[in-house]
Amino acid sequence: MSVLDGQDPHALALAVQRLAKGDVVAIPTETVYGLAGRCDDDRAVALIFSTKGRPVDHPLIVHVADEEAARFFARDLSEVALRLMRQFWPGPLTLVVSRREGRAQLAAAGRDTVALRCPDHPVAQQVLRLGRDQGIPGLAAPSANRFGRVSPTRAQHVVAEFGPELMVVDGGPCREGIESAIVDCSRLHPYLLRPGTLTRQELEAVAGEPVRQPDALSPRVSGSLAAHYAPAAQVQLCSAQELASRWQHTPIGEDRRLGVYSRHPPPEGQGVLWRQMPDNANQVASELFDVLRNFDDSGAQAIWVESPPSGAEWEGVRDRLQRAAAS
Ligand code: TXA
Ligand code: MG
Repeated sequence: MSVLDGQDPHALALAVQRLAKGDVVAIPTETVYGLAGRCDDDRAVALIFSTKGRPVDHPLIVHVADEEAARFFARDLSEVALRLMRQFWPGPLTLVVSRREGRAQLAAAGRDTVALRCPDHPVAQQVLRLGRDQGIPGLAAPSANRFGRVSPTRAQHVVAEFGPELMVVDGGPCREGIESAIVDCSRLHPYLLRPGTLTRQELEAVAGEPVRQPDALSPRVSGSLAAHYAPAAQVQLCSAQELASRWQHTPIGEDRRLGVYSRHPPPEGQGVLWRQMPDNANQVASELFDVLRNFDDSGAQAIWVESPPSGAEWEGVRDRLQRAAAS
């Protein structure tokens, strides 16, 4: 049995025992499932990179139980970093801060910074706290998918990625559904390296200053590669108008190789796979990766997605869709 029930204390103890001895275990967080391993064990971290097929110069996020645990890794926390963590932790926010020498060296890919996140999921919190009792200072955990693919938001997605060999703790479907926002606080001013479900405005209100777009000096993060988060089917983003004109000019008829994720249903007689896109950005974020995976599983070869609205609350969803479409 590779999928363990996250509600079962014995299962959690078993997962932590595995982690303590240097194995990797997939755990739920409120954003996406993570492929976790202890960040102070080079063998465990190397196993994460090889399992995922991720280049070893792409650093991993270190997950911690609380601010105190973060201080073990951070050389120095700026005012802005402290304000953000005190407001939004535990929660879907990762902070890049200067790193203490010798701590989480391999997870940080040798950089002088480290990405820290305190997840807001009861199972992740318990695993981190039980782990701390066993001497684990933090867990390196990238999203539990193969490099470049769609992140998993359900235990079954992880099993579909890696097969039954990998231990997966099931914590139910992820609430947020897209990866955490990443703010670089290692420089004089904060930069948003990856948008998430926390909006730029929410971050700025707490930071007390603008949260800037990455610039030439910003680290290039893998989540910021143009092509990422891709299902097997080819994703095309199109405006509502463009969709309407496609329906009018190129009647599809019965075609179950086409998936469509849009606010309005296709007209009568268009026998495509259709999922209705909700009007609420958080709802779309929370189901997006599951929708893309379901289209893949149903045999779709192309997916048309209606471009989300331009509001600030859509930034994270827009970002993931643009990268999925760029593949
Ligand atoms: O929501 C999330 O953040 C999920 C869950 C599992 O916590 N994790 C996640 O990890 O998305 P991953 O490895 O798929 O994405 C981590 C991102 C990458 O784009 C990586 O390049 C960036 O964080 N990153 C990690 N350490 C960094 C550092 N020191 N400086 C800049 N970027 C960093
Ligand atoms: Mg990822």
